[in-house]
Parts: sequence; C-alpha cells; structure tokens
Amino acid sequence: MPTSMGSTAIIISVAYSVVVVLGAILAWGLYRSTIRRRAVDTHKLAERERNWLIAVIVALVSLLFATIFFTPYGDSAGNKPVQVVKVTGLQFAWKIQPATVVAGKKVQFDVVSDDVSHGFGVYTKGYKYLFQVQAVPDSVTRVFHTFDEPGVYRILCLEFCGRDHHLMEAQIEVIAAEGSGK
Ligand code: CUA
Repeated sequence: MPTSMGSTAIIISVAYSVVVVLGAILAWGLYRSTIRRRAVDTHKLAERERNWLIAVIVALVSLLFATIFFTPYGDSAGNKPVQVVKVTGLQFAWKIQPATVVAGKKVQFDVVSDDVSHGFGVYTKGYKYLFQVQAVPDSVTRVFHTFDEPGVYRILCLEFCGRDHHLMEAQIEVIAAEGSGK
C-alpha cells in the first residue's frame, strides 16, 4: 500500500472489502438455503412474515417521527427577513449593491449578468471557498447565505468570460450586528 494513500481511498477500500465479504456470506447463505430441504410449516412461515411486517412498519414509523422534526427545510420556506444584495457581473467587474451586510442575518443574493455568463464565487478573506452560482444574462439566480463572522469576503469570477476574466474580483464587507458584541 503506497504511503501517500489518502484517507478517502482507505475508507473506500475498507468499504469495498466489507461489501465483498458480506456479499460472499449472503451468497453462501442463499446457496445453502437452496440445498436444505425440510418440511415446511406454512402457518409458521406466514406468522413469521406478518411479525416481520409489523416490525418493519413500527421501525419505519418510529424513524419517521424521530427524525422529521430535524429535517432541514429549504431557504425558500417561510418569509423570514433577509438582506437583499443585487449582484451584476459584467466584463470585467462586479456590481454589488449594497456591498455591506450584517453578520448572522440571512443574505439573499440576486445574481445576473449584463453580458456573458460569469461565475459568482464567494470566498473568505483567506480565499477559503464558500459557495458559487452562475451569473447569466436575462435570468436572476437567487442564492441565500448567512455570514456568521464579520469581516471582508472576496468575490471571484469562476467562469472564463474573456480576456480580463482574472481581474473580476470584488469584495463584500460583513459587519457585526448591533449589540452582538463582535
Ligand atoms: Cu467573469 Cu470570468
């Protein structure tokens, strides 16, 4: 095994090995079940089948009620207050209105392009990737994001859009909410 093997490769190898072993055991069990011939008590089998059905229904219903209240809903659910920022990409700049938002409060980005297709990519000050959406002409791409930490965030264009694509950089300032102490 090469020492440079990443943890993902190790996890995949282990998972495959486990699946292969389980598959072999299952295949062997199935094979054995076809050669063993015993007298069959159909009443007992029917009863067992019904008990399994009940067990599965009980398990599924319990799982449903144990998890449904933790299911995350899409950002489009409800009309919570949001800060709306209009983003326009153009060769070769970003118009961001307004370019200052408040931390901890959801921001709705409405992203369009004035000319060709651009990639609206948002990064931290240290260029850690946060999210990206396409900026296309004649159609608004809406994306929501909540900046938890105040500071400067960077906007980069993530789609090659022409000669000065690499110059399409801008920033958003995230300020602390009043009374947050940050
Ligand atoms: Cu705009 Cu690349």
